[in-house]
Amino acid sequence: MCGIVGVTADPDQVPNVMPMLVQGLKRLEYRGYDSAGFAFIECGSQKLLVFKNKGRIDDVVRSYGVSTYCAISGIAHTRWATHGAPNQVNAHPHLDCNKKIAIVHNGIIKNFAELREWLVEQGHRFESDTDTEVIAHLLEHFSREERDFFSAFKKALRMLEGAYAIAVLHEDEPLRIYFARNISPLLIGLGIGFNMLSSDIPSMLPYTRRFIVLNDGEYGYIEPYRVHIEKEGRSIDWRARITTITWSLEDAEKGGYPHYMLKEIMEQPRVLYETYMGLLSSREVEDAAKILADTDKIFITGAGTSYHASLVFTYYLSLLARELAIPFIASEYSTYSRLSGSDSALIVVSQSGETIDSLQALRAFKKKGAKIIAVSNVIGSTIPRESDKTIYTRAGPEIGVAATKTFLTQVLALTFLSLRLGLIRGVLTQSEYKDLVNELKRAGEAASVSIEKSSRIIERLVIGLKKSNSMYILGRELGVPLAYEGALKVKEVSYIHAEAYPAGESKHGPIALVEPGFPVIFVATPPAEHLFEKLQGNIMEMKARGASTILFGVDGYEDVKGADIVVTVGPWGEVLAPYALTPPLQLLAYRLAVALGRDPDKPRNLAKTVTVE
Ligand code: AGP
Repeated sequence: MCGIVGVTADPDQVPNVMPMLVQGLKRLEYRGYDSAGFAFIECGSQKLLVFKNKGRIDDVVRSYGVSTYCAISGIAHTRWATHGAPNQVNAHPHLDCNKKIAIVHNGIIKNFAELREWLVEQGHRFESDTDTEVIAHLLEHFSREERDFFSAFKKALRMLEGAYAIAVLHEDEPLRIYFARNISPLLIGLGIGFNMLSSDIPSMLPYTRRFIVLNDGEYGYIEPYRVHIEKEGRSIDWRARITTITWSLEDAEKGGYPHYMLKEIMEQPRVLYETYMGLLSSREVEDAAKILADTDKIFITGAGTSYHASLVFTYYLSLLARELAIPFIASEYSTYSRLSGSDSALIVVSQSGETIDSLQALRAFKKKGAKIIAVSNVIGSTIPRESDKTIYTRAGPEIGVAATKTFLTQVLALTFLSLRLGLIRGVLTQSEYKDLVNELKRAGEAASVSIEKSSRIIERLVIGLKKSNSMYILGRELGVPLAYEGALKVKEVSYIHAEAYPAGESKHGPIALVEPGFPVIFVATPPAEHLFEKLQGNIMEMKARGASTILFGVDGYEDVKGADIVVTVGPWGEVLAPYALTPPLQLLAYRLAVALGRDPDKPRNLAKTVTVE
């Protein structure tokens, strides 16, 4: 799971593509940042030059003076290591033996070991441990046999098994970049006097707003004034597939905040409102609810944060539509797909629309005849394209690796879906449905009030919490998935161990870890009349063992006993509680990360879009 970018330009229009290459790649750094590299055709000499090393893009650019070069075309890569340690030789681009063909690749070539063995027998010399390098040598090999390089490229592609988005630059064809996509995302950006390729849209937004989303199995090449796409040997007429994007570039940048994560937390009131308006004015939810109404079994899946949104959906579906949704973690799909069929529907929640675990779950269910509904933030991504129906969230681009604003927009979309099914099922009357939909309009306000009420106290809490090695985050009912999501945020950006579980489980094992000063955070959701006593009991159990207890709750929990600190975030009822109780936990995670000197936007070992199983 890596990011790739490529640019080719008419020098009269764009005298030097290097700034586009460097900036484009920097916007892809969220996809992995173990190493970075560039291959480009130098202006004047027309030679292929390659610079690559382990570490972040800025370091690689600085250490080789990459920005001081002039290029007429180039490809670049930021890596999240899968095959081979993150070091200089394994960094992309990879080269053939003659060092004339350079390739960057995102994905995994499953049969690379056999191909490598065969290529070594043919006399090819390998420098790296990567699966990618076999592609460079295959290209070299077939270019000796074929009449032109494109034929060699197609022949090499036929040998590859697995997932790939690739871009190839050949010194002998300086203004042409070859590409291919299978499973891993790749898009073409159309410019005036230039064309480009990238793993996502935001990286190309400063240069163009017109894109072609490539489909699996498509390959071809770009030149400054030409795009050629083929699939299974037939040319594709791509003109009708051009998408024009209206996101502002500012949307994709930091907007004055020190980190994307903070910017994205603070954007929640706005994007919730925009998602709300979008859901109201489209037929997406209605169509998806009809699919659910026609099926006997409802499954819902996602990975990480998207799985937590799925758990919130299960809660609301039971509350608002009296229906059971079976939630599962996407990578565990086989246990569940076995039980699905044409009587089933699967909701796949994925902000990126590219997570391979979720995509595999989708495909397994589809094979069994289940209907698929996607909930995604990325128009044209793979999961929506393979689904029967998609509900789009409108969170805008999320650059921070930690999912923040996309979680609450997923929750909002899924709550709409629960309400609609509740109406179809007759669990809700038309007027109850209308009132609840109206109430959801305040989701953004709930987030904003809560941020306002909790920000100061969180800054104080961090002073003590940053010294902890571990903490628990507990909740009941709706509070459980919110606690899971809070714990995921804390551990992924601050690296402090945080574990969430239902508060009632305390006595069944986890309480053994509690000793004086151990932090336990409670997420207290409505209805307080129903949950207060039980949560009160759980807090006392922790307090009795000397735990340091903190409660984030909606109004109604002010008088709880045994909590050292109580933060109430407003008078929100059941459908609005997630929007009020999630931001404080996100802010806590963010502040802990900053206090501990971590980079919240690029936590170690992680990547924004996980395209390996
Ligand atoms: C959480 O902060 C992570 N970004 C991660 O858990 C993420 O939610 C997961 O990888 C799924 O991604 P998706 O929504 O793009 O499918």
